[in-house]
Amino acid sequence: MFLLPGILITYYVTHTPIPPEYATEIKRYLFARQHPEDGGWGLHIEGHSSVFGTSMNYVALRLIGVSEEDPRMIKARGLLHKFGGAVYGPHWAKFWLSILGVMEWEGVNPVPPEIWLLPDWVPFAPWRWWIHMRQVFLPMSWLWSKQWSHPLDDLTRQLREELYTQPYSSVDFAAHRNSIHEADNYYPKTWVLNAANEMLVRVWNPYLRPSSLIKRAEDWTWELIRMEDENTEYAGLGPVNNPMNMVACYLHDGPDSESVRRHRERLDDYMWVKGEGMLANGTNGVQVWDTAFITQAIVVAGFADQPKWRPMLTKALEFLDDHQLRENVPDQEKCYRQHRKGAWPFSTKDQGYTVSDCTAEGLRSTLQLQEMYNFPKLVSEERLKDAVDCLLHLQNPSGGFSEYEVTRGSPKLEWLNAAEVFGGIMISYDHPECTTASVTALSLFSQLYPDYRAEEIRLAKQKAVAHIKHTQRADGSWYGSWGICFTYAAMFALESLASIGETYETSADSRRGCDFLIEKQQADGGWGESYLSSSTHQYVQHEKSQVCQTAWSLLGLMEAGYPHKEPLERGIKLLMSRQQPNGEWLQEAIEGVFNQSW
Ligand SMILES: *[C@@H]1O[C@H](CO)[C@@H](O)[C@H](O)[C@H]1NC(C)=O
Repeated sequence: MFLLPGILITYYVTHTPIPPEYATEIKRYLFARQHPEDGGWGLHIEGHSSVFGTSMNYVALRLIGVSEEDPRMIKARGLLHKFGGAVYGPHWAKFWLSILGVMEWEGVNPVPPEIWLLPDWVPFAPWRWWIHMRQVFLPMSWLWSKQWSHPLDDLTRQLREELYTQPYSSVDFAAHRNSIHEADNYYPKTWVLNAANEMLVRVWNPYLRPSSLIKRAEDWTWELIRMEDENTEYAGLGPVNNPMNMVACYLHDGPDSESVRRHRERLDDYMWVKGEGMLANGTNGVQVWDTAFITQAIVVAGFADQPKWRPMLTKALEFLDDHQLRENVPDQEKCYRQHRKGAWPFSTKDQGYTVSDCTAEGLRSTLQLQEMYNFPKLVSEERLKDAVDCLLHLQNPSGGFSEYEVTRGSPKLEWLNAAEVFGGIMISYDHPECTTASVTALSLFSQLYPDYRAEEIRLAKQKAVAHIKHTQRADGSWYGSWGICFTYAAMFALESLASIGETYETSADSRRGCDFLIEKQQADGGWGESYLSSSTHQYVQHEKSQVCQTAWSLLGLMEAGYPHKEPLERGIKLLMSRQQPNGEWLQEAIEGVFNQSW
């Protein structure tokens, strides 16, 4: 719920007309998602109302023409004022409101671009941060340094009076730099970060920040922004950094520049229309990821050699062939990118970021079709080997795999987490999901090509499974980061164990993992986990069982060879009962949140 407002603010400040049909559908969506009781919005569709969600979505609706007199807006504003007004929002909200010109930059904690000039060996240099933090911090720091705001107009002048509990001119923004409402403060800033901010505000910015250094820092961050744009065909890593890059291009290159034009087209890639209206997705699609899984589902269902499915699968293979990344980015070292030759991305080749489990699933689907079901060999042996090389590059010394890159910094970097609303975001962490996908795909490759790096693959698998065992919790569970949550991780971890022959019958670890799942089965035979599992790190039952989590749990138990049929049958029956007459399963509760969001 914070992506769309960033995009709309970007449209507004870069004078990009918002197509009226977008405005209509976005209004529908945002009002459909307004909290029915308190009138606010939260961090995501099931989260409780917060200053972040409420202030940003209120502004979004105003920018697309909703009147401040609309009863729904009056209600939202009432809640925002009850929260104390927009000065109680987190850092990212304050940043966007300052860009729009409805907050003063003194209210925003510093985002100094100078930090990008630190030598690489410094333990907290930004190249070591988790990619999403790094790539958001990048344009943010450039824009913060410029302290640019959209010139005041009638609408923003009015907004200045709507967002606060007192007249705009009387708000002491500097005094609110650290203000944050408890509804937003999930991950309070540490004393280390607070001390650093104080130093920056009181000493560094006013006295020590020479203009030559500012220029060097701005030039270098601009260069990195430019590389990100060019290396992603202006799609950007995601819908948080991409609009910020666009605002930077608008300022640097001018309103009608090529870069702004390219960004304008790309913002559409993030928009999505569903029954409730138009929203912004967290990625520019799920193309490679979904193609790989649909392919695998058909293979598992035993349809891959049926003529009826061949044309469709051939096209899927062609798509995977088209979207494998064939080369590293130019200047890989300079812009701190991970090796990508041979990888598959999550969405498209244009976006172009290596992702470990997408590479694994792309490789697995290609191997299944080409090697096991005799589809044309579109992806050459050499390119399959490139994918293997890429995966082997991605394994961490711990044995685990993260998603985009190897881990580059220490967990102590969390001390500098300034986002307040997310946790565990400062470095790349290992995930049972990525780890399992990577090593199982590698071992499938090894069975088909036993002569290529076989010993390294064997060792990689050994280390990975040892890592999975090491991260099992005392109650037999694993914490999952990309789906919700313990059911998702258990599916992967049990598969990892099974891949070295450890099953319910033969391994105490596998048994503990299964028993954990069985304990959580609900009375109707299904499993259902609330998104709160992700933030509380404890299993939280959803009041209703959910098809996704039921399927994940069943897959995990079956991987482990769980010997008692009765719980499995009950789970399967639940899945069957939820299938619609036309064959589909409906969307139920949210099944993925990330960064431990509440
Ligand atoms: C975009 O988000 C909506 C709502 O969460 C979801 O239904 C849809 O599948 C997503 N689309 C993509 C391409 O991720």
